[in-house]
Amino acid sequence: MKFFLDTGNIEEIKRITRLGLVDGVTTNPSLIAKEGRLFKDVIKEIVAIVPGPVSAEVIGLTAEEMLKEAYEIAEWAPNVVIKLPMTEDGLEACYELTKKGIKTNVTLVFSAAQGLMAAKAGATYISPFVGRLDDIGVDGMKLIKDLKTILTNYGLTSEIIAASIRNIAHVEQAAIAGAHIATIPGSLLPSLWKHPLTDNGIERFLKDWEKVPQV
Ligand code: E4P
Repeated sequence: MKFFLDTGNIEEIKRITRLGLVDGVTTNPSLIAKEGRLFKDVIKEIVAIVPGPVSAEVIGLTAEEMLKEAYEIAEWAPNVVIKLPMTEDGLEACYELTKKGIKTNVTLVFSAAQGLMAAKAGATYISPFVGRLDDIGVDGMKLIKDLKTILTNYGLTSEIIAASIRNIAHVEQAAIAGAHIATIPGSLLPSLWKHPLTDNGIERFLKDWEKVPQV
């Protein structure tokens, strides 16, 4: 499973990149807004650190507006991916960009049917939002499983990014379900390698080590 960082924060990206855990980055307008900097500056800094795919989201609502933004963003770096909303216009823009060889990430996907539409329009990546479905009492992980089955059934090549990840179980379950990628908030990722028994174990080993004769 590939790990993307779901953040616009440069310090988080640098920290986790040092561990070799960052295969790519996803951003969205809310994450960019947190940084208080120009969108273009944030994305350009990220692509200089991470060689993998970096998703940058358009804000236009019509296909024409989305494409105008997309062509500009695509100029910023070869590894930039255009993030498009799951709407009729988003699908039109996705199909158009795919024809031109520009990579896309169709976001805000909340049903398997939407995921299938994105795959048919040629999306490079599809982002089903697990946590936001769980928030409204719908099983978000079922969407990942269903979408994985559908893509496999028809040999569709879009990659599933399990998005809106809230906890360790989401990452584990998405991996079991066969999501190609999990995009994880920088604040959550450290909890994937931490365990209280690991910390206790280190403490006990160090205490016992004090009893070992030293030269
Ligand atoms: C996906 O690419 C989105 O940026 C993200 O996962 C949204 O997560 P949220 O529901 O925590 O805002």
